[in-house]
Amino acid sequence: MFPKFNIQQLFIISLFVVINTLNSQSNNLIMTNKSLDSIEIEKQINKILEELTLEEKVAMCHAQSKFSTKGVSRLGIPEIWMSDGPHGVRAEISWDDWSYAGWTNDSITAFPALTCLASTFNLELSSAYGFSVGEEARYRKKDVLLGPGVNIYRTPLNGRNFEYMGEDPFLASKMVVPYIQGVQKNGVAACVKHFVLNNQEHWRDKVNVEVSDRALHEIYLPAFKASVLEGKNWAIMGAYNKFRGKYTTHNPILYKILKTDWKFDGVVISDWSSAHSTEEAALYGLDIEMGTGTDGLGTTTKDFYSLYYLATPFLDGLKDGTFPISVVDEKVKRILRLMFRTNLNNNRSLGSVNTKEHQDVALQVAKEGIVLLKNESDFFPIKDHKNLTIAVIGENATRSMTAGGGSSELKPKFEISPLQGIKEKYNKATVLHAMGYQTGASEYAKIYPPTLDLDSLKREAIKVAKKADIVLFVGGLNKSHLQDCEGEDRQQFGLPFKQEELLDEIYKVNKNIGFLMVSGNAVEIPWLPKVKALLQTWYLGSMSGHAIADIVSGDETPSGKLPFTFPVKLEDNAAHFYGEESYPGINYNQYYKEDILVGYRWHETKNIKPLFSFGYGLSYTSFNISDIKINKNKFSVNDNILINCKIKNIGKVEGAEVIQVYVGKPNSKVKRALKELKGFDKIKLQSGEETISNIKIPVNSLAFYNETFSDWEVEKGEYIVYIGNASDNILKELKIVIVE
Ligand code: BGC
Repeated sequence: MFPKFNIQQLFIISLFVVINTLNSQSNNLIMTNKSLDSIEIEKQINKILEELTLEEKVAMCHAQSKFSTKGVSRLGIPEIWMSDGPHGVRAEISWDDWSYAGWTNDSITAFPALTCLASTFNLELSSAYGFSVGEEARYRKKDVLLGPGVNIYRTPLNGRNFEYMGEDPFLASKMVVPYIQGVQKNGVAACVKHFVLNNQEHWRDKVNVEVSDRALHEIYLPAFKASVLEGKNWAIMGAYNKFRGKYTTHNPILYKILKTDWKFDGVVISDWSSAHSTEEAALYGLDIEMGTGTDGLGTTTKDFYSLYYLATPFLDGLKDGTFPISVVDEKVKRILRLMFRTNLNNNRSLGSVNTKEHQDVALQVAKEGIVLLKNESDFFPIKDHKNLTIAVIGENATRSMTAGGGSSELKPKFEISPLQGIKEKYNKATVLHAMGYQTGASEYAKIYPPTLDLDSLKREAIKVAKKADIVLFVGGLNKSHLQDCEGEDRQQFGLPFKQEELLDEIYKVNKNIGFLMVSGNAVEIPWLPKVKALLQTWYLGSMSGHAIADIVSGDETPSGKLPFTFPVKLEDNAAHFYGEESYPGINYNQYYKEDILVGYRWHETKNIKPLFSFGYGLSYTSFNISDIKINKNKFSVNDNILINCKIKNIGKVEGAEVIQVYVGKPNSKVKRALKELKGFDKIKLQSGEETISNIKIPVNSLAFYNETFSDWEVEKGEYIVYIGNASDNILKELKIVIVE
C-alpha cells in the first residue's frame, strides 16, 4: 500500500525530489552556498513560502523545546535540532527544562577547549577539529552546532574565555574559518557565537557596552566577519548583553553590519532567552528565538513557548498590521535556506561518533595546543626509568574537566585524567598521587564529592612530595561556578583554593617542581620562581592525560603559543587599568576605555611588560631563523607583501615553530598599537631539517577603520614589519613604504 498524500504534500515532495536529483547529478555530495543549485533552492524556498500559513511561519521562528524548533508536519518540513557546542556535542537535554534527558547513547568525544585550538596556530587542525565535531553532531542528528565562539579575550576574569580563541582578532579570524567549513561539510550548521561584545559573564544579561566604532570593527568584529565572508557559516547567535543601549540579539547592527554589509544569508538565533522585545526582535534581524522561559528567567512554565516574543505577540502584530508580512517571510526564507543546507539535504553524510579518527584529532589538538612557559635546566622532558619517583599532586590531576563550565559541558565516552596518562606513560617509574586540596562541588556538573579534611590533604601531599624525585603539581582553575565557567566571572586573578599555600609547603620539602596549569585563562603567577617548569595545559577533553604525558615525557615536543597575554598583575591588563567603569561597569554600563589597545596591543604600546606575552611558547628543540626578506619595499594598496625566511631545526628532536609577522605604523595620523599580528606560519621540522617559510600579507589588511567616514582606510607612508616567534621576540624589523 502506498501512503496517501494530499496535493500540498505531493507538491513539496516533488520539489525535494527535483532538488535531490539535481544534487546527485552535480556530483557534489554536500550542498553549499556556492553550489549551482542555490538559485534553484531560492525558487523552491519561495514556492514553499506560498504554501505556509501565517501561523506555521511564526511557529518556525521560535523554540518548541529547549533545543528544537517546529517543522510543518503537513508539508513534511522537519524540525530543526540544535546542540551545544563548541568542544563536542552536548548530552541530550530534556524537552522543557535544563535537566539531562538521561539517554545512554549520547556520549561523545570531548575535544580540547577552543583556547587550546587557538594555541596550535594550526589551520589544518582547526579544519580536522571542525570536521570531526561536525561528524559527531550529524551522527547525533543535530542540524545546528552551537559554536564556535569567537568573543575576544578582554579580561582574564571572563568565566568563558576558555570557549573562545584568544585576544587577537587576526588569530581568531584565521582559526575560526576552517572550523566552520569542517563542521558544515557534514551538512550541520555552525552557529558562531556570541554576536557581539559578550566579553564578560558578570551581568551578561544586562550590561550595556559602549565601545568606539574603531575598536568594534578592528577588534571585536573581525572574527565574526571572517566567519561570514570566508567560513560562510549558516547560523550566528546573538548575545545577552546590550550594545549602545539595545540588546545585541535584536540590535540594529544585525541588519546594518551582518545582513547588509556582510550579506549574511543564514539564520540569526537568539542566545537562550536573550530576546526582550517583539518589536525589536521582529524588525532588527533576529530569525529564531530560543529560550529558557518566557520572561527570560526560566520561571514561567505554562505554555511558555507560545508566549515567546517571536510567537503569539509576533503573530498578533503580523495580523493587525503592526509588522508587514515581509518581515516574517524574510525570517522563514532564511530558516528554509538553513534547512536546505542541513536537514533537507538528503546527500549529507551519516556522521559518526567516538571513532579512532576523532580521538586522534582530539589528541593532536591537545598536544599541539599545550604551551611550555618555563623550562629551567631542561626540567622537561622527564625520561622514564625504574629508579624514578614522581609525585603527582593536585585535584586537577583527577578531576573531570569535561563536567561543568556551563553549556559547553560534555558527557565523553571516556576522559583520560592527567594522573592516568602519566601512570600509563611512566610504567617503569613509581608514580605517587596526593590530592593536596579540594575545591568542592561543581554546580553545573552536579558533582558533590564528600568534604575532606584540608589539613590532612595538605599533610599527605607534603609526605608524598618528600618521597619523590620530581613533583608534578597539577593545579589551576576548574569548571566550577566562579572559575572557568559560564554565568559569572572569576573573583580573583591568583590561584584559587589555597594552592599557592600548598605549593609553598611543598617547596620546603622538594624544589624539583613542574607546574601543570589547567585553565582557560591567565592566572597571576608570583610563585613562578618556585617552580622549575610551567606548562599551560588548558582543558583538553577526552585525551587529556595522554596529551599531557606525551609532552611531559618528550614523546611530543611542545609547540603551542599563547593566544593571549599573561599580565603580571590584573591592573596591567587594559580593561582593568581603567577601573570599574571599564570592568565590570557601573550600574550595568561599561566603557571599553582601552579602545583598540586590547591584550598585547596594550602592553606593547604602553610598555607594560607582561609575564608571558601573546605568541610565546617554548620548545624542546631550537630553531635558527635566517635570511628574513621582503619581496620589495614599496607597495601599493592592491599589492601583497611577501615575507620569507629560512628556518632550520638545530636541536636534537623533531619540533614545530610558528613564524609570526606583525606590522606597525609609526607616525600614524591615528592612534595605533605598536604592532599587530598580520600573518603566521606553523612549520614542523625534523632535527636538522631546513625549509623556507612564506607568508603573504595583503596590503589592504593593514587598513584601520576610519570613524570620520565609517570605512576602512589604508594609510600611506612608512610601516615596520616585525618578524619573530613571539610578540616579544622579534628577530628582524624591516621598513616598507605604502605609496598610492
Ligand atoms: C549560552 C549559549 C548556549 C545556550 C544553549 C546559553 O546560556 O550562552 O552559548 O549555546 O545557552 O545552551
